[in-house]
Amino acid sequence: MRPRCVELHRVLKKTGSFYYHCDWHASHYVKVMLDQIFGENQFQNEIIWKRTHAHGNIGRRFGVVNDSIFFYTRNTDYTWNQEYLAFADDYIERRFNYTDPDGRRWQSVTLRNPGKRPNLHYPYTASNGVTYMPHPNGWSCDLERMKQYDSEGRLHFPSKAGGQLRLKMYLDESPGPKLQNIWDDIPPINSQAAEALGYPTQKPLPLLERIIEASSNRNDIVLDAFCGCGTALVAAQKLKRQWIGIDISPTACRVMAMRLKKDCGLKEDEKLWAIGRGFIVRDLPKTEAELRKYPAFEFENWAVVALGGIPNKVQVGDLGIDGRIYPVSAILELRVKENVEMDFMDVWYPIQVKQTDKVGRPDIDAFETAIQRAKRKLGYFVGFDFTGDALFEIDRFRRETGCEIKPLTVREILDEEVLQR
Ligand SMILES: C[S@@+](CC[C@H](N)C(=O)[O-])C[C@H]1O[C@@H](n2cnc3c(N)ncnc32)[C@H](O)[C@@H]1O
Repeated sequence: MRPRCVELHRVLKKTGSFYYHCDWHASHYVKVMLDQIFGENQFQNEIIWKRTHAHGNIGRRFGVVNDSIFFYTRNTDYTWNQEYLAFADDYIERRFNYTDPDGRRWQSVTLRNPGKRPNLHYPYTASNGVTYMPHPNGWSCDLERMKQYDSEGRLHFPSKAGGQLRLKMYLDESPGPKLQNIWDDIPPINSQAAEALGYPTQKPLPLLERIIEASSNRNDIVLDAFCGCGTALVAAQKLKRQWIGIDISPTACRVMAMRLKKDCGLKEDEKLWAIGRGFIVRDLPKTEAELRKYPAFEFENWAVVALGGIPNKVQVGDLGIDGRIYPVSAILELRVKENVEMDFMDVWYPIQVKQTDKVGRPDIDAFETAIQRAKRKLGYFVGFDFTGDALFEIDRFRRETGCEIKPLTVREILDEEVLQR
């Protein structure tokens, strides 16, 4: 991630902000890396997002229910729009305990100046004919403002003689408490949610809206360099920001394009894009011919990521495995069993990729050995095509060992329509 974050820091506007979302496995290392890139003085917050509900089987330690979002800025003079939460119902009941005849709720607040202000020390004869003396510090406003409050019916006259004159603060004009760094009011996407796209790492829209609103203004540019199914782009579009999304996975790009059309009514059209009304998806491999020209390692990377897997970092001596798929179903299943968190790391399936025209029997033989060495029951093999012998061998392997190899052609991956699954 370091080279990518260095580049993101380089292109960030002077008034811009940077948010990095991760979980506890990496967060402490990421914080150190980002301090080095942005400078520790530009670290503004660690936001704790409560992303899951409490779960029971957590082993002999405390359950982890949060992710971290690190918030850095490019400079000290950064865009900041303070956000507020709604008042809790019981707070409203307790504090806003007066109601005007027209139904507006208000609380009574002091008109006493917090510091000593001799120039605000005047007697005030109010519209009810009573003259009120200020607190020894003085009033919190000048005479002109006091008259305005009075004419607008905003003064709270004491019921007893000698009581303090106070101010009405209306609930509908009060902003609520300022948003703090623990966010437990945005639930994660569950499979039943209206916005769920079946994309495993999809983030809830309100999470991205909150971040974008706080750190940008209308027409500013939002860049999500790992945008997955495009939640940040949809949030940016809805908030009338300009946006750029990057993702290495063509599958993710297709999902996000469909989402921008469906949820934002945008058209994928070069002419409309040029006048700021539509969008384009760029540099996506659309044909087998383009993929045949990719350098071998990039082709491997493309195939593994397109399948939702993680490319193997060791390119030399990879023992016949180019990537791994960690199935989401297995993660969820294991998280409700004992010994959670890291166990899912052991449920994975190998991926092998070959850029040759036809995957042959010797390629399958080698992959069988790799699958058995890794003690897996299933593996994926990606190629442009498979020889009859190769397919015959895959069938034999399944019948005799019970282990399965799924042959996938590049064409099938390119044609895949994730949203129709
Ligand atoms: C955690 S997901 C992002 C999810 C996103 N926030 C959402 O709501 O859908 C991370 C994404 O980063 C993409 N990715 C991984 N490596 C990448 C790279 N080197 N360059 C660009 N995108 C990459 C993956 O394809 C994946 O879609």
